[in-house]
Amino acid sequence: MEIIRIPRIMQDTCRRHILKGRSVGFVPTMGALHEGHLSLMKRAQRENDSVVVSIFVNPAQFAPAEDFAAYPRDIDNDLVKLRDLGIDSLFVPDNSLMYPSGFSTSVEVGGLSDRLCGLYRPGHFRGVATVVAKLLNIVGPTRAYFGQKDFQQTVVIRRMVKDLNMDAEIVVCPTKREEDGLAMSSRNRYLNPQERTAAASLYRAMTLVSEDLRSGTKSPAALKEMLHAALAKEPLITGIDYAGIFHPETLDELQETGRLREVLIAVAARLGKTRLIDNIVVNLG
Ligand code: PAJ
Repeated sequence: MEIIRIPRIMQDTCRRHILKGRSVGFVPTMGALHEGHLSLMKRAQRENDSVVVSIFVNPAQFAPAEDFAAYPRDIDNDLVKLRDLGIDSLFVPDNSLMYPSGFSTSVEVGGLSDRLCGLYRPGHFRGVATVVAKLLNIVGPTRAYFGQKDFQQTVVIRRMVKDLNMDAEIVVCPTKREEDGLAMSSRNRYLNPQERTAAASLYRAMTLVSEDLRSGTKSPAALKEMLHAALAKEPLITGIDYAGIFHPETLDELQETGRLREVLIAVAARLGKTRLIDNIVVNLG
């Protein structure tokens, strides 16, 4: 596996592949890799001739009071996992090369960035869109892979790629879960054993609601109430930023499911100091 730290070298390496007619799959990450990340990489390997992974804990997507400094970093274990998987190239840029002094451009995806998590993490999606735009420009992949786990992120990135005529194909992959249903996340490391057990209640609550959603007998408002009631049963959940039923493209909260073929159930909740998000997309057939 070649490890590249300089954007210009990464750009040249990928350009050479593309010029030879080889497809490049790209998986951007912030490291502390788990099976969720690896599932994206395996899919990228199946669908492309060469795979690039990036590890960059992007300061621009953390608000000043958030966990940027404490965000888990585990580069030695990450390297072992990437080598075992047979990843071709790893891009690990320094902050000073991604954001040199004088850096002053940002990408703002209007509207979509201000809903759901955007309401509780102001500036977060501007940071995500900006760094993903930079990474797509640096790597220039045929396809880029993102997890459904961060559903709003995928909606924001798809919009950006379309609006800015970027040519990477965006591929969204299913959420990998622990046996009890908890979505894998680098932030799960913050949970103490009691919180870890309680964290599975997010998925349980969404699954419960999805059954009634499919049967079509209850309104989104009633389902939202059910979701909140199910989450309220878990005393270690110390706060709910949002929990409800949303349009999967506009991210608007739904008043009725109408003719929609798919709806989004999404939750952001706090267990002690840890903020967890999860979602499921329900197919209404
Ligand atoms: P990070 O949280 O490291 O996640 C990297 C990618 O892995 C994202 O596309 C995320 O949705 C996906 N992922 C995380 N947990 C997953 C799971 N349980 N199952 C499937 N996929 C999962 O998301 C980011 O980094 C950053 O915002 C980034 C896009 C790299 C920009 O900085």
